[in-house]
Amino acid sequence: MDKIRIRGGKRLSGKIRISGAKNAALPLMAASLLTDEPLVLVNLPQLADISTMANLLTHLGVDISMAGETGKDGHTGRSLSLHAREITDTTAPYDLVRRMRASVVVLGPLLARSGHARVSLPGGCAIGTRPVDLHIKGLTQLGAEIDLTGGYIDAKAPNGLVGAHFVFPTVSVGATENVLMAACLAKGESVLSNVAREPEITDLAHCLVAMGAKIGGIGSDTLIVQGVERLHGAEHTVIADRIEAGTYAMAAAMTGGDIELIGVQLDLMESVVDKLIEAGVKIEKTDQGLRVSCDTRLRGVDVMTEPFPGFPTDLQAQMTALMSTADGASMITESIFENRFMHIPELARMGANVTVHGASSLVRGVGALTGAPVMATDLRASASLVLAGLIADGETWVSRVYHIDRGYERIEEKLAACGADIERVDE
Ligand code: UD1
Repeated sequence: MDKIRIRGGKRLSGKIRISGAKNAALPLMAASLLTDEPLVLVNLPQLADISTMANLLTHLGVDISMAGETGKDGHTGRSLSLHAREITDTTAPYDLVRRMRASVVVLGPLLARSGHARVSLPGGCAIGTRPVDLHIKGLTQLGAEIDLTGGYIDAKAPNGLVGAHFVFPTVSVGATENVLMAACLAKGESVLSNVAREPEITDLAHCLVAMGAKIGGIGSDTLIVQGVERLHGAEHTVIADRIEAGTYAMAAAMTGGDIELIGVQLDLMESVVDKLIEAGVKIEKTDQGLRVSCDTRLRGVDVMTEPFPGFPTDLQAQMTALMSTADGASMITESIFENRFMHIPELARMGANVTVHGASSLVRGVGALTGAPVMATDLRASASLVLAGLIADGETWVSRVYHIDRGYERIEEKLAACGADIERVDE
């Protein structure tokens, strides 16, 4: 199994091209199920989760082929053509879904296109119980009959879905994506209120519109969808990954470095930029993206994770690493997921002083971290350990690197190109 070895203490400088957003790419790929024409997605990141989704879609009958070269139009990612000429299987089996919770996003499109979908319940994960009740409630509101049997969500709508008004009781990214995609092929109008407003949802909505969907209110908390009989093929470019960008912005800040993040827009990450500026980081817009630099010791700042446009939960662990050597204390509150503090015992092994009280962690900045062998527990937790390793004295070995590979494209190469002493070691 691979490990990442980091020798800390190098100042980072240079440019990092930000990849296409994983969390935008996954539902976009699932949207290919909605039409019998090809959907071409440009700038897909090369990640384990993308391969998992491709395997699942292939199982359902989607033909996936390369469409154009990597690097076209300045993007690093691949272009894929996804062609669901015919849905040959409406079951997303446990074996494929358990590898990635986000697989559940095939439920809405499969049901809307085929009138039937059987999708394995994803089960628990390292960051909490993560139920799918909102996905089920929303689709039921559109007329689906749903049973939970044998560990599967069994959804039927033999006469098609029917538009309806649905108020999401709490904000959910995945449930919004599932219900939005289903509503595009439902009969009549759907009004979806209290939807998630994450940029990845806006990206999905723009792609659906390019496929012929009629969606109003894009970017707001209410989406109004006029159902259409069929959708057609389209070509769509995936937005930049704001979580990857935020992680590298923090790497620049922690190492007193200077990095230009190519391809990312400020409006994707204003809450993160505001917090970094409050902590003492300099951030400027450039022609190609954002330049992040820092020449002072960071100040402790308080952060609370919230749905977009608030501070993203997917950067909470990295923020804790950033704050671990800041001047003063910071209170980091996780309001989206329970049990998303698995990185803290590992950071503590590197000398961080963090105490967890319920949904908050109190980080008291220390003078320095020390390298140690640490274990990645989930995707974002592992990124926080890499960040800590970049500034720790001595060597840090991060094991279970497959978590990082789910969401960061060639993390060690991108950091090494900016001067980090980091390498992947195959054990
Ligand atoms: C997505 C992201 C993930 C991110 C999260 C929050 C993808 C592939 N993943 O996950 O990286 O951390 O948004 O920004 O895009 N909930 C329910 N019932 C449901 C659905 C969700 O109670 O049916 C709860 C969850 O347990 C959680 C909260 O709602 O407490 C938000 O979860 P949700 O927005 O659905 O996250 P995901 O879509 O799973």
